[in-house]
Amino acid sequence: MAIPTSRAKEKGEIRIDREICIGCGDCVEVCKDFSLEIRDGKAALSDNPAFGCIGCGHCMAICPTGAIRIYGRTISPEDLFDLPPAASASDYGQLLSLLRRRRSIREFSERAVEPEIIEKILNAAVTSPMGLPPSDVNVLILDGREKTRQFAVDFCEFLGRMRWFVSSWFLTLMRPFWGKSNDEMFRGFVKPMFDIFIGQMKKGVNVVTYDAPLAMYFYGSPFTDPADPIVAATTAMYAAESLGLGTCMLGSVHPLIQNGRGARKFRENHGIKYASREGVIVIFGYPSVEYRKGIRRTFASTTFMN
Ligand SMILES: Cc1cc2nc3c(=O)[nH]c(=O)nc-3n(C[C@H](O)[C@H](O)[C@H](O)COP(=O)(O)O)c2cc1C
Ligand code: SF4
Ligand code: SF4
Repeated sequence: MAIPTSRAKEKGEIRIDREICIGCGDCVEVCKDFSLEIRDGKAALSDNPAFGCIGCGHCMAICPTGAIRIYGRTISPEDLFDLPPAASASDYGQLLSLLRRRRSIREFSERAVEPEIIEKILNAAVTSPMGLPPSDVNVLILDGREKTRQFAVDFCEFLGRMRWFVSSWFLTLMRPFWGKSNDEMFRGFVKPMFDIFIGQMKKGVNVVTYDAPLAMYFYGSPFTDPADPIVAATTAMYAAESLGLGTCMLGSVHPLIQNGRGARKFRENHGIKYASREGVIVIFGYPSVEYRKGIRRTFASTTFMN
């Protein structure tokens, strides 16, 4: 048995070198699949794994002697690397400064985002945690102002053909099925958004992707934990911030390109491999504006259970 993803259907293969295993039990402790146990003082395969090795690699990353190796589900011992020294990691103060300095940026200078910067963003984003390895996040990269603009032009054309979706008769028809808050959301946000996107694009103004010099669309597959693309996009966003870029998440495109024939065509035309429950676009570029103050934010609620 194994958990299926778009990239792996088989369980990982666990190889243990009993000669060099010192029986410390670290691998057993970190394996949440219950694939491992200590038998006769050495690591061994257990008889009752939960799903079958998911290929997370934790056992081989923690093993002090290199006695355990995992193959399959896209992972192998080749994927292990030396940890950067703890002292080289940013401390809380540095991280908080980065977080507090960030603003959503939609105004960009002409400067393109250099290929090595794009690579750095991806190298950071790929470290993101995921619901289940191997990551089922896909990334579509729109490199260049013309590409992000064309994507937005096509999206607005697509929205133009979908206008019935926010028409008064359709919303009235749907209200008993999707409820009051969805009705409020559609009338107060989605319909005006259609009008603004399409209306501004007719005037040549792109308020979908803001003609950003770079955009990345993070999306899943039918197997992906819906949070995974969002987690990866967030990591990419902060990595870009640390490299001096301005960024903005765009949530408006993804939900509208999931269902129906037109949406499928749009996805196909833009190299998007799957429909998926969640996804988000992040735009990047060197800002042409500079904020002078931060803005204090609050959560809707923070509840401590006593
Ligand atoms: C999930 C998500 C989706 C967003 N979608 C859009 C969008 O479609 N268009 C846009 O202009 N801004 C979008 N934003 C940016 C928000 O409007 C922005 O984060 C918010 O106004 C607060 O500003 P700040 O990010 O500077 O704190 C989105 C942000 C998030 C986190
Ligand atoms: S790779 Fe993960 S699931 Fe597989 S044996 Fe190691 S810790 Fe367990
Ligand atoms: S972590 Fe390595 S040395 Fe320790 S029990 Fe597991 S395989 Fe053996």
